[in-house]
Amino acid sequence: MELKTSYLGLELAHPLMPGASPLADDLDTVKRLEDAGAAAITLRSLFEEQIEHEQMATAAFLDEPAHSFAEAMSYLPSPGDFALGPEEYLNQVRLIREAVALPVVGSLNGTHSGRWLEYASLIEEAGASALEVNLYELVTDPKVSASWVEDSSVVMIAELAGRIDIPFAVKLSPYYSALPSFAARLEQAGAAGLILFNRFYQADIDIEELEAVRSLHLSDSSSLLLRLRWLAILSSQRECSLAVSGGVHSVEDAIKAIMCGADGVQMVSALLQHGPGRLTEVRNGLRDWLVDHEYESLDQMRGSMNLAHSPDPAAFERANYMQILQSWRGVS
Ligand SMILES: Cc1cc2nc3c(=O)[nH]c(=O)nc-3n(C[C@H](O)[C@H](O)[C@H](O)COP(=O)(O)O)c2cc1C
Repeated sequence: MELKTSYLGLELAHPLMPGASPLADDLDTVKRLEDAGAAAITLRSLFEEQIEHEQMATAAFLDEPAHSFAEAMSYLPSPGDFALGPEEYLNQVRLIREAVALPVVGSLNGTHSGRWLEYASLIEEAGASALEVNLYELVTDPKVSASWVEDSSVVMIAELAGRIDIPFAVKLSPYYSALPSFAARLEQAGAAGLILFNRFYQADIDIEELEAVRSLHLSDSSSLLLRLRWLAILSSQRECSLAVSGGVHSVEDAIKAIMCGADGVQMVSALLQHGPGRLTEVRNGLRDWLVDHEYESLDQMRGSMNLAHSPDPAAFERANYMQILQSWRGVS
């Protein structure tokens, strides 16, 4: 069964890969992922703030009193709290590149144009075959409009496209008011792919201590449904690659994502919980399912459940919404 997949212009043996996470922090785990059959290795993100902190520290050391920037950065994790500093990050890309034969994907996380984007070229020079850019941002300023946020992201993506020759994907959040238009602009600005979606880790509150409580919950398959909807919409509109990130735990989850149009299928929570062997199980299960259902290839299945054949996808989605609300019967 042919599982070959083109993702960000990379020819992969199949679509399954670990997503950006601590899974690539340790070379033994990276080798285990290769042995488990991962199609590519993605590193965790290097953050705009981390890079700027280092760049400002160097500038401040040369020209200014040390405290001038320290206060502004004081609410961020200290450099030592990050698993990999900027230089260590580049080194990790080199080490993974040497350790395995798989394509290595770097990840930057930030939202504004600036000197920090130099790290995209450095990650390319270190040997990455592709890059992800995670646009995680929570806008709290009422003076900042949705169009301003989108415009500044598009400017940043265009700048990035001018800096590197390797392909890159933009990892999005689902909370844009008109995602199809934004997705089109990102593709025009040079993105070779879109990753749907970021997970937002919302802090809880401790009602006794009046404190925010941060905890990281891993996903389950229920996170997938939002991704399926947007894969089905965007894959009928965009030429660029699409990857799913969020809620892929089983063979069925992977099949659904591909039917809705995913070229790449990323897994994190499932691999953190069950180890790299889960990727092998999903890959083998996917192959067996395709054989049992008499598909000739994965390509034949990809996008079969997208909205390309719906004359009015927005009306279709709204009709689904109304039908679901009307389907509930009885109150206990
Ligand atoms: C411990 C942990 C660390 C993560 N670090 C990053 C990161 O550095 N950059 C990033 O883009 N996503 C990061 N993610 C998000 C994952 O790449 C992925 O989008 C998310 O976990 C949803 O996929 P899943 O349902 O398969 O876990 C992280 C997730 C976890 C659980």
